[in-house]
Amino acid sequence: MSEANGTQPATSDALENLLQENRKFAPSEEFAANAVVKPGIYEEADADHEAFWAKQARELLSWNEDFTQTLDWSDAPFAKWFVGGTLNAAYNALDRHVENGLGDRVAIYFEGEPGDSRSYTYAQLTEEVKKAANAFESLGLAKGDRVAVYLPMIPEAVITMLACARIGAIHSVVFGGFSADALRSRIDDAEAKLVVTSDGTYRRGKPSPLKPAVDAALEAKGHSVSSVVVVKRNGEPVDWHEGRDRWWHEVVESASADHTPVPHDAEHPLFILYTSGTTGKPKGILHTTGGFLAQSAFTHKATFDLHAETDVYWCTADIGWVTGHTYVTYAPLINGATQLMYEGTPDTPHQGRWWELVEKYKVSIMYTAPTAIRTMMKWGEDIPAKFDLSSIRVLGSVGEPINPEAWMWYRRVIGGDKAPIVDTWWQTETGAHMIAPMPGITETKPGSAQTPVPGIAVDVVDEMGQSVPNGHGGYLVIRKPWPAMLRGIWGDPERYKETYWSRFDNMYFAGDGAKKDDDGDFWLLGRVDDVMNVSGHRLSTTEIESALVSHPSVAEAAVVGASDETTGEAVVAFVILRGNAVEDPEIVTTLRNHVGKEIGPIAKPRQILVVPELPKTRSGKIMRRLLKDIAEGREAGDSSTLADNTVMQQITSSLKG
Ligand code: WTA
Repeated sequence: MSEANGTQPATSDALENLLQENRKFAPSEEFAANAVVKPGIYEEADADHEAFWAKQARELLSWNEDFTQTLDWSDAPFAKWFVGGTLNAAYNALDRHVENGLGDRVAIYFEGEPGDSRSYTYAQLTEEVKKAANAFESLGLAKGDRVAVYLPMIPEAVITMLACARIGAIHSVVFGGFSADALRSRIDDAEAKLVVTSDGTYRRGKPSPLKPAVDAALEAKGHSVSSVVVVKRNGEPVDWHEGRDRWWHEVVESASADHTPVPHDAEHPLFILYTSGTTGKPKGILHTTGGFLAQSAFTHKATFDLHAETDVYWCTADIGWVTGHTYVTYAPLINGATQLMYEGTPDTPHQGRWWELVEKYKVSIMYTAPTAIRTMMKWGEDIPAKFDLSSIRVLGSVGEPINPEAWMWYRRVIGGDKAPIVDTWWQTETGAHMIAPMPGITETKPGSAQTPVPGIAVDVVDEMGQSVPNGHGGYLVIRKPWPAMLRGIWGDPERYKETYWSRFDNMYFAGDGAKKDDDGDFWLLGRVDDVMNVSGHRLSTTEIESALVSHPSVAEAAVVGASDETTGEAVVAFVILRGNAVEDPEIVTTLRNHVGKEIGPIAKPRQILVVPELPKTRSGKIMRRLLKDIAEGREAGDSSTLADNTVMQQITSSLKG
């Protein structure tokens, strides 16, 4: 790892605190006795990991053509899973449940932010997806075409994704919090033919627009989009481009509800999802059908101990992130589960909204992020105490390391001191859970993601790629290919090899630091590269730096992730201004808004500090470690390798002044 990086594995104060943690929570006898996954599963998976995944794929999915080879790794690191198999993702999520007599089971309970609600049974959702598939085909969409999805958390988002999958079109969901510019670059990279959006949504009790960003994104000529389908959600007026724009309620509602799902190859692309990496340009992570669905369905069932007939499952993630793909759109429906989908913010109209929903829908499995848990902790436990949360039996966490305090609060206040906490480590790239407890087997420890998922080979290695002994930290790697692994970066196979497979021989480099404790359990320590994690959202320091220097007032910029009590990390930017901008009193606001426009509101720095110089090594690398010290209010550490030793002095005195 280079000196210039901010985070070193196994050195932080947080780690020291974690290592003091020795509480353990075994599943209750009753929970263990009724659990979906039984002890022995690890041994079974270890004995033959390919056979294990082949069995899951056959048990959990319906194949039109069975596969003839479980894994083809001959062209590593490009994997093929379930070779020769064919299936349809939408058929697996929908039609087959109806054929199996589950048509009347609720698939989605939807609750809008203003309090409107609707629900879809499996039969109804199947019909909607068939209509949407017909509508999209009538607009010229065909197998292999790309579709940009820019929608809020409404059922049409899931319907759109499944309609694409049904046809074999590849969806690329762009989070609604991204700007028009970010949307355009993703549309261009994937050469999307269709965009599905809505007039807008509701945010904190007010209408919030989306369509104007699509219009702005498509303003400059030279794009690939021929149609925009618009869901009417908040009823706000929108500009209309005749010939390009269509209302969902016209084109989809009038379409036929007959649509035959054609089988696709197991390796047919299912979706692209852009995520931040260590360079300025987001990577289009590519996932394919069979392997992704098999591991998604397995982990959803095993990690959450899903009993589809009785559970009500709620994942609070937005479909703009991978968690919303795997654990909202695909896995729950493949498994025939009943799930809740909520459009809005957790504090509208009051801070008990989530718990009111848990009570109303009798949610039994909840899956959310540590940042949300910490926010709720701040609001106070008297708020959830007002609601009946007794339906809850499993609680999941994802997106960033969960600190033991938040873990304990989640278990005690939300889980009634009995629901197991499953902390799940995974990434956009891994497609599905990779490290997670099995709630009926694992004795859990507050703050640890615990154990590799059965059939997944995770390890921690040192600089040289040697496995570290228990009690030591290093880099998190994956030693064997796994079914839901990314199949590459859209349009850039070299970058895929370089980013994930060049750091260590024959191992996938995740970019996270981790430690194995004395029992061999895993503790995640955050990123070791230039990726930040703000409220569980991945942001690239380089991408934000590029956005800042694209402003005419900025000469140079360096961005660091500073630890933040609620959001995990927060964006702090150091900028050197060009001569004429120095006197502008509004410059910080201007630059924050500029980042919002270039990337999206989520990337706006919490703080922008104007400095005369940046600390650089002799080779010209910015030493973010030192800037991080300042951002976190510490005395800056060792600066002996700086090209100019006085720089830190200059920075601190300029900030004081
Ligand atoms: C971090 C989100 C600790 C990690 C599913 C990873 C976690 C990045 C955890 C991926 C966890 C995710 N404990 N860290 N349980 N889950 N991360 O692609 O740094 O948005 O590399 O996928 O989030 O973020 P992504």
